[in-house]
Amino acid sequence: MERLIAFSIWLGNTPVAQAVNAHGWYVPAIQVVHIIAIAAVVIAALLINLRAAGLVERERTLAVVTASWLPVLYTAIAVLALTGFLLIASEPGRALFRTVFWVKLILIAFAVAATWAQRAVGEARPRALHVALALASLAAWSLVIFAGRWIAYADGWSGAPS
Ligand code: HEM
Repeated sequence: MERLIAFSIWLGNTPVAQAVNAHGWYVPAIQVVHIIAIAAVVIAALLINLRAAGLVERERTLAVVTASWLPVLYTAIAVLALTGFLLIASEPGRALFRTVFWVKLILIAFAVAATWAQRAVGEARPRALHVALALASLAAWSLVIFAGRWIAYADGWSGAPS
């Protein structure tokens, strides 16, 4: 944990951290961008998974739907990573020292993989496989959102900077 503490102290003294904390409204504004990007992730993940399960957009092939929405998903995740980094820089002693933050990152990797897998397994596969993937993917995205909110309420590790 020493290295993480050293990193958080270094991050808190960077010009990026100072810029983010220069005005009280910057952090809420960054949170707004984070939340709008979450909406884009939810829309993209819903359309891909519901199409794969055969519930919506049946007049378009799965390949066409994933070609439209996977780039939206990836762009939104890039925006989330950037805004998430800025939120961490604003208060490095917070998310980095809460287990739920690291669980959230693992869940994001799983959720992206499960959503991408809808295209990778291909249209010809049994519908049950797409339905199972859709349930896993949408459950994982819901847990990511839950974990994101929980960061604010979880206890930090003992010995972590406040
Ligand atoms: C990709 C890397 C990401 C990073 C580094 C990141 C980081 C963060 C941080 C630091 C916070 C503030 C937590 C706090 O101090 O209370 C936060 C909030 C949140 N994040 Fe992320 N996040 C990422 C991606 C995502 C994704 C993909 C989702 C969901 C699709 C998500 C959902 C949320 C939610 C719901 C909140 C709470 C927002 C609020 O209450 O204002 N995050 N995130």
